[in-house]
Amino acid sequence: MASISINNVWKYYGQTPAVKDLNIECTDGSFVSILGPSGCGKSSTMRMLAGLEHISAGDILFDGHRVNDLAPKDRDIAMVFENYALYPHKSVFDNIANPLRLRGMDAATIKERVTGAARLLEIDHLLDRRPQELSGGQKQRVAIGRAIVREPKLFLFDEPIAHLDAKLRAHMRGEIKHLQRTLGTTMIYVTHDQLEALSMADMIAVMYEGELQQWGTPREIFNNPVNAWVAGFVGEPAMNFLTCEMRHENGALVFAHPNFTIPVTSAQAARLDSVGHAGAVRMGVRPDALAISLAKPEAAAIEGSIFVTELLGGDMLVDVQLTDARVRVKTSTEFPGAPGEACYLSVNREKWHAFSVETGRAYF
Ligand SMILES: Nc1ncnc2c1ncn2[C@@H]1O[C@H](COP(=O)(O)OP(=O)(O)OP(=O)(O)O)[C@@H](O)[C@H]1O
Ligand SMILES: [Mg+2]
Repeated sequence: MASISINNVWKYYGQTPAVKDLNIECTDGSFVSILGPSGCGKSSTMRMLAGLEHISAGDILFDGHRVNDLAPKDRDIAMVFENYALYPHKSVFDNIANPLRLRGMDAATIKERVTGAARLLEIDHLLDRRPQELSGGQKQRVAIGRAIVREPKLFLFDEPIAHLDAKLRAHMRGEIKHLQRTLGTTMIYVTHDQLEALSMADMIAVMYEGELQQWGTPREIFNNPVNAWVAGFVGEPAMNFLTCEMRHENGALVFAHPNFTIPVTSAQAARLDSVGHAGAVRMGVRPDALAISLAKPEAAAIEGSIFVTELLGGDMLVDVQLTDARVRVKTSTEFPGAPGEACYLSVNREKWHAFSVETGRAYF
């Protein structure tokens, strides 16, 4: 087990920076997810952690010791990547045993470790098969088995389940999280799937265009995104954004839009003091922080018309057309509205957000 520090790390490919001044602290035994869209620098970061890629600037420390110049084999890490590269001509047993044989471990210990890992991963009945006789999920378990038998101090998993089907992915999420908890080994897990990061990690590093956007627990990232980019990336269905005018009306600070005028709470007004009370603001609200009805409620409702409804098993999503925008609302499957009908939305103001139009920075 190890604590990992990534201190002011940069990665340049030629003149182009792929990772910009990255800082991440993983405590010993924690599950850290690096989350971001394609090309944001996740794998570059992993390859620097693994020692497969030169660090252009900054330091990586394992347990306080600088590892920048350590060869991959001296870092005591185990990697599982999306392309898990099993040896096709070797049995499952031999695939898992391979890293231990390379280390010259004795046969009895190898057998003990391989069968132990196979039992943990529930592939002990497959040890004699070859990779082509396995399903995608089983192959992935073999790759994970090969990583865990080494008993490394750090796991580096880079999109290990990205290509599996949705049901198997959901299953493997739970399996990997349970495995990490059982072994207690520090895990750095890369994904572009926000649901994977939210459901598995203790701490999430959200990256975009080579830069760390936010570092926090899944709850912090979801409930208090630091900017509009993180707010829009995390959460499914995605947050709705509406550009509003911010002004004073009858002594209250309001967000005004062609379809509504809604006062902010006093705590929110205080947060907005720093920006002054005039100008435009980007309001953000998640689909489940909006309530929809066909009857007009009291004040402060948003008026629109139903564009389309989508049944999602236990919930219903309703797309509502406003004058110049469309918003998505999550409601119950009992909702009776049909496309074209007028409807009214109310906002849970404890759960809405406001972002700077210019910088995207969150005011609340
Ligand atoms: N060997 C390389 N040479 C030049 N540019 C590279 C190299 N590897 C990656 N890049 C560039 O660096 C940026 C970050 O790539 P990286 O592989 O780290 O992204 P990623 O977040 O892992 O993306 P994905 O989700 O698609 O795997 C990209 O713009 C990519 O094109
Ligand atoms: Mg990648």
